[in-house]
Amino acid sequence: MTEADAVPSFDLVLFGANGDLALRKLLPSLFALYADGRLPTSWQLIGVSRTELSDRRFLELVRQQIEGSALLAAALDDSWEGFSAHLSYLAMDATEPGDMSQFRDLLRHEQVIYYLATRADLYSLITENLYKAGLSGDSARIVLEKPVGLDLESAREITAVVSDRFPEDQVYRIDHYLGKETVQNLLVLRFSNSIFENQWNHRYIDHIQITISESAGVAGRAAFYDQVGALRDMLQNHLLQLLCMTAMEPPYRLHPDAVRDEKVKVLRSLRPMTDETIPEKVVRGQYQASETGLTSYADDLGSNGDSSTETFVALKVEIDNWRWAGVPFYLRTGKRLAERACEIAVHFKPVPHSIFTLQHRSAMANRLVFRLQPDEGIRLSLCEKQPGAGMTVKSSELSLNPESLARTRTPDAYERLLNDVIQGNQTLFVRDDELMAAWEWLDPVIQHWRRSDMRPEAYAAGTWGPSAATLLLARDGRLWDELVGISGAQGGKS
Ligand code: BG6
Repeated sequence: MTEADAVPSFDLVLFGANGDLALRKLLPSLFALYADGRLPTSWQLIGVSRTELSDRRFLELVRQQIEGSALLAAALDDSWEGFSAHLSYLAMDATEPGDMSQFRDLLRHEQVIYYLATRADLYSLITENLYKAGLSGDSARIVLEKPVGLDLESAREITAVVSDRFPEDQVYRIDHYLGKETVQNLLVLRFSNSIFENQWNHRYIDHIQITISESAGVAGRAAFYDQVGALRDMLQNHLLQLLCMTAMEPPYRLHPDAVRDEKVKVLRSLRPMTDETIPEKVVRGQYQASETGLTSYADDLGSNGDSSTETFVALKVEIDNWRWAGVPFYLRTGKRLAERACEIAVHFKPVPHSIFTLQHRSAMANRLVFRLQPDEGIRLSLCEKQPGAGMTVKSSELSLNPESLARTRTPDAYERLLNDVIQGNQTLFVRDDELMAAWEWLDPVIQHWRRSDMRPEAYAAGTWGPSAATLLLARDGRLWDELVGISGAQGGKS
């Protein structure tokens, strides 16, 4: 029996099939699963959206995306014909209850997956319409993209409707950062190496920095992005999930609820943000045109250029529990920054007393860096003797760039997550209480900004964000890390 034989047959109904996410990420990932022989013999995808498109045109759009990916294009000759035979397209309005029955007759398998790659404000309506059309049975799964909601209230509304119609074990809330290879490696490294676990607390760790920086702007998605901004687009989900994976207690086993229970505990231990602390702990910025010719956010937005949406956010987060008392987590993310990179950097405390003459004791402290992109790997900085006369100490790096990663294609996060949805494994998906805990913690910031007439601080496109972000760490006597690739190279451009 092959791996694919063990995969259940399924129908995948993709709402928003004509959108950026579906075409750029989901459909190429499905193709990759197919080309790797990881889909069963019998399955189908029905792409749904309001736009009138023929099946042929839909397939052309999908193929164009795959052709644009150097890694996947090579598999087109062998796999396109077989893959495309599983795809069809249906133009319909999912917000119209009557329209839902249009695809009922097209469903062929017991297992049906509804993937909502649409705006979050349509989630409740689509869920309700699926229910009314009798399509939300026991073997149906529903997949929701982030951000689920725009604030605590809207997230509560959506969650209430979805959980009314689908039990939690049929709901898959995607955060694609959880599907990234290095995030899973973080779990393995933490929970299968006792040398790290012993050190993983306030006694040995000074602080932790988590950065997701993007060099791209918002061109092409400006209208969507302007509704959400960096806080909802990246912080409420990706950054907080990375924080949870870094800070959580060891789950008692690798089981979806055991892992998610631990993440919820972290979210509930985050020190609440208040009107008094927000101005000193949260920085927001917006990119401006650069001297090198990069456009401003306002230019990218076009006609509605005057916006106070943040394209950068940095925070100091404290976790009030036994393990992390006194260890700040600094998080930052932004568009149009100097590089595309993502790193979790664990800064250990310097030795309590050095017998060597060290010019910068804290700069010589050990640092463990998990690099998620553009290259993936892990590096640990250690002190060693500078060869030659004298006793000069220098910092060197051990790096773990698994050969398997370097040689083979690392699956896109969506590939892994789609595969998990098909197989029914919820470990890497966000549970309802986890989602709500994240919104509850963040909502005071959203409300504070709503009431404030302060605009985000300007930063030049192509730099590392506003000066207030530097100050955020400088006040604590710290600096943001320079992001360096595993092979020593600087990050990439997105
Ligand atoms: C998405 C955000 O969730 O993540 C985008 O909506 C962002 O704005 C993207 O660009 C980044 O993902 P990745 O995997 O390219 O780092």
